[in-house]
Parts: sequence; structure tokens; C-alpha cells
Amino acid sequence: MKILLLGSGGREAALAWKMAQSPETEKLFIAPGNGGTGNYGTNVPLKPTDFEAVGSFVDENGIDLLVVGNEDPLVAGITDFMAETRPELLVVGPRKAGAMLEGSKDFAKLFMSEEGIPTARYKSFTAETLAEGERFLETLKAPYVLKADGLAAGKGVLIINDLAEAKKELAEMLGGMFGASSATVVIEEFLSGIECSVFVLTDGRGGYRILPVAKDYKRIGEGDTGLNTGGMGAVSPVAFADEAWMKKVEERIVRPTVEGLIRRGIDYRGFIFLGLINVDGEPMVIEYNVRMGDPETEVVMLRVESDLVPLLAAAAKGELGDLPLKEDPRAASTVMLVSGGYPGAYAKGIEITGTGDVDESILFHAGTAEKDGHLVTAGGRVIAASSYGTDLADALAKSYRSAAKVNFDGKYFRRDIGNEFLPK
Ligand code: AMP
Ligand code: GLY
Repeated sequence: MKILLLGSGGREAALAWKMAQSPETEKLFIAPGNGGTGNYGTNVPLKPTDFEAVGSFVDENGIDLLVVGNEDPLVAGITDFMAETRPELLVVGPRKAGAMLEGSKDFAKLFMSEEGIPTARYKSFTAETLAEGERFLETLKAPYVLKADGLAAGKGVLIINDLAEAKKELAEMLGGMFGASSATVVIEEFLSGIECSVFVLTDGRGGYRILPVAKDYKRIGEGDTGLNTGGMGAVSPVAFADEAWMKKVEERIVRPTVEGLIRRGIDYRGFIFLGLINVDGEPMVIEYNVRMGDPETEVVMLRVESDLVPLLAAAAKGELGDLPLKEDPRAASTVMLVSGGYPGAYAKGIEITGTGDVDESILFHAGTAEKDGHLVTAGGRVIAASSYGTDLADALAKSYRSAAKVNFDGKYFRRDIGNEFLPK
């Protein structure tokens, strides 16, 4: 099978690593890829949102399977475009209508309330209904959660302790703080608990598989302090997401989601990312995404024992059938090495050394590039040091040893990934 994977992050590096191991993979292209993905396939300088260019590449290279890694092309309708122009092409990733689960928080909240899926109580407001929004805030207890409806590159959620401040931010969001993305704002009740990420691969016809559960660490600072980032590390498995808890997730969230999409005539073939929170032992949905998580994928792929390629192809065909998705019993961790200054301003083009000395982790490149035969930094999140272990402590020890071996000026990483799950 000839495969084209779209994206350039650590997530795509991990997907490429996994797909490259499949005996069914005849040729793997990654567009645009990064300084590490060339180890698993061929990087192609294409922009994932340039549908015409992606389509021409598919034609010229006889691509059978298109795997869309990031949300932007999905929300912009790449799957619809391919279905109209190249109906034979297998595509992993929902059409525009399904991508609304991530593309519009208002849509996602309405979907959950109609399907009876547990989530925070909410209401949506626009500039016309600002006064009602302020009154709704008065009915809630602090902290207040304000979410821009549309995609805002992970920045569209504000959690505010003070009511007056929340009202001011609401007015600013509706006034265009995140452009068109915040023309509608969802206000919701604050939920308290530990979060985790559950990934579901679905075939659009009621077939689905649940992948190994992961937890990511979003804040830049240790102890979950400081600014939000794309993600500083991840672990899998997650202790509280045991069999009993996952049964609740499947019954109350996964099945109603899959069936709710079908009932709406939404043909969803791809990954559903459930951002969940454990509230007093009960799973609730914080958000949906329509792709795999980053850096969760850098641990989830390690823990998928089955060949991923037949599963992806079957999901894209609409016939997952009884193909198994077996979990690797080992634990996995990933620690993200980031550029100094990230998530604020940071330098690029800094030489990276020491990657060749790493032998007990897999280095999934994220923001790296090749320059004059050298490996250099090319983004905020640079390399994810991912490791297997007999348990989480063992996996994390390997990731930290590897993180210490890779060097570039300004390198930073958190040293408390997964700490709450380690024996005290
Ligand atoms: P989202 O983009 O919806 O995932 O929100 C970003 C982060 O904000 C989440 O990962 C949570 O940590 C937090 N968050 C979002 N909604 C809530 C909520 N209703 N209660 C508590 N925390 C939330
Ligand atoms: N790690 C969270 C995300 O990919 O959105």
C-alpha cells in the first residue's frame, strides 16, 4: 500500500514510525514532514491545506491511503475534496461535517447535550447576546470557563477566577479577540478532576476501536504551572482509567458519539480524540478533537501492538470488522525537549547534537530540520524522547536519560511528567 501522511509534528513522526513497520506499507510519504520523519519514509514539500497540490501528488504517485495528521486540512474539507475528485482514495480523517466536533465548540456541546453525553453545563453567546452572557456568568461559580467557538491554535480557552474579569474577557472575545473564531463564545461550568485522552478509530458505520489511554502535560512549568503549550510530555497507561472506568467511557461516551454521528448522517472515518476528565470517578468530556493528540501519539503508538496500517485502511473503507487492536502491555512515556523561550518567542536554526548517542528511547522529531547536513531546531517543540518501560518509572527514567543526551542551546524539558502516577 502506498501511503501519504499529512503533517510535520511529533505526532506525525510517531504515526510514520508505526506505519513504516507494517509489511503492508510499500511506500510512505510524509508531507511536509520534519528533520526526523525521513527516517521512516520520504518527506515531500507539500502544504497539507493545498488540496490541489496534495491531489496531484496522490495521482502522480499512485497513493492508496491518505492519513491526515492535523486538524486544519480536515476542518477545511480535505476529505470532502478527495471524495469528490478521487473517490477511490482511502482517507483517514472525517469530512468537514464531522470535523465540526473540533472546529466548533458550540456544535460539539449541542451534539453532546442532544446525545446525553456527560459534559459541563454550558450556554453559547454572540455579540448580540452579550448581556445574557454576563447574566449567565453570574449564575455560575468561579472559576469561569470561556471558550472561543472556532479553532484558535489551542489559545481559545480562558479560565478566570474573578467575575468582573470574566465579563470583561467575554466582551473582548466577542469583540474579536480571536477574530472570527470567537464570534461565538461558549461559557461553561468548571469541572475539577484529572484529565486524560482517549482515542477512538471509527469506520463511519458503527465499527470502532479504542486505542491505549494517555495523559498529556500541557503547561510549560513543573507542577502544571505557567503558560499552556502544545504539550510537554505524556504517559500511557493512565492508572485511573482502569477497566471499570473505561467501560463507562465506552458506554456513556464512545458509543453515543459514534451512533450520534451516524444518526446525523455524518460519515466519520478516522480518529476521534476524547479529552476527558475524571470527576469523582465519572468520566466527562472536556472537548473533542478530530485527530490524534500530540504528544499523546508519541506514547500511544508505542502501545499499539497490532499492525496499524490494516486498521487505518479498514476504517477508511468503512469496514473495521473484527480486526484486532492489541495493546502492548509495557508502559510508555514521552518527554518533550523544547526551545528556550517557548511557548513565547524562541530562536530557530540552532544545531542539535547527541541524537546518535540515544539508545534506550525513540526520538520522535517535532520541530527539527536538516540544514547543510546538520540537524537544527525549527520549532518550539523540538524532539519527543519516547520510551518503553516495565512500568512508568522505568519508561520515564529512560526518557530523562535520553533527554539529557540530546543537546541544543536553550534546551528545556519538564522533569515531572507522570509524577502523580509514580509510587511515592
Ligand atoms: P480545550 O481546548 O477545550 O481542551 O480546553 C483547554 C484546557 O482547558 C483543557 O485541557 C482543560 O484543562 C481546561 N478546561 C477546558 N474546559 C474546562 C472545564 N469545563 N472545566 C475545567 N477545565 C477545563
Ligand atoms: N495534546 C493535546 C492535543 O493534541 O490537542
